[in-house]
Amino acid sequence: MDERVTLRSHLDQAVQDAPNAPAVAAVIEAVAAASIRLAVLIADGPLAGITGRHSGINPDGDLQKDIDVAADEMMRRALRMAPVAAILSEESELPEMLDAEAPLCVAIDPLDGSANLENNISIGTIFSIRPRGNDVLSTFFEPGTAQCAAGFVVYGPQTILVLAMNQSVDIFILDRLAREFLLIAQGVKIAPNTPEFAINASNHRHWHGPVRAYIDECLAGSNGGGADFNMRWIGSLVAESLRILVRGGVFLYPADARPGYREGRLRLLYEAHPMALVMEWAGGAATTGRRRILELAAKTPHQRVPLIMGSVRGVRDVAVIHEGIEPMFDHSDAPLFARRGLFR
Ligand code: F6P
Ligand code: MN
Repeated sequence: MDERVTLRSHLDQAVQDAPNAPAVAAVIEAVAAASIRLAVLIADGPLAGITGRHSGINPDGDLQKDIDVAADEMMRRALRMAPVAAILSEESELPEMLDAEAPLCVAIDPLDGSANLENNISIGTIFSIRPRGNDVLSTFFEPGTAQCAAGFVVYGPQTILVLAMNQSVDIFILDRLAREFLLIAQGVKIAPNTPEFAINASNHRHWHGPVRAYIDECLAGSNGGGADFNMRWIGSLVAESLRILVRGGVFLYPADARPGYREGRLRLLYEAHPMALVMEWAGGAATTGRRRILELAAKTPHQRVPLIMGSVRGVRDVAVIHEGIEPMFDHSDAPLFARRGLFR
């Protein structure tokens, strides 16, 4: 991109139509500004006193590190200055109520995948923005289609902001010297049929039938008459999502038979909903295997959900297999139900 388009000028241009547009822009700017400060803290790590030590347990039972707590505080501080009625963060049990008259509610995972930090692997912030309903709290329990914008920041070799807004997915890079985000890709579209999958394969024995069948098809590749698949698993949702935007493929964090994983691992409100909005607005798809993620409404703030997302073809193949096979935790190595050739 030749012209230097800053996030701020991009948001100014976008502010035209939608009723909440200036408020949405203000929230995005708040998250972006906090993420710039957080990127510096992450990059400095031990130099800035980040020990990586556990300092508690979050409401979902995940170990909380000092950087999780710092990220949560940085995002909250920024959002409290923005037109936000309530913040739901991964790091606390209940939403924080702010100005009840403000037009927006924000669900946020301030620092996803922080366990990767000590290995210097990409981690990120994920956010979801909704217009406030009459009752502030019940805003969070509307389906994901209620989101008006969402996105994520990847703190990796580069700091990248992915923004889903006005039905478009745009990507920005942090100019570290100028301390501002610059547009590098506009109207990103996910390749519809990339033969690449991402799943934590160590859980193979715990998966239920449809997921095992899909992955077994991928692994059989051309030996079974289908396409040869490549595999990736970073263990960092933001990094996997960015990869899908760049080159396609399908990501799966399914439900499985382990205690605590019956509804998968990822959280609906601040992980699956925002990623699903990004995927769909980039021409991809996101499902539990049986239901479109964006049509789901949370019943509790930290509800988990199976998440399968990415290229439309891959997501559709997973959904087709789910239609044909009951979700049994059967541990059998049954033949693939005469579906061989599905991927051709
Ligand atoms: O939710 C935290 C997270 O680190 C995600 O970023 C990632 O997709 C997932 O957990 C990895 O889980 P696992 O360690 O079970 O593969
Ligand atoms: Mn998370």
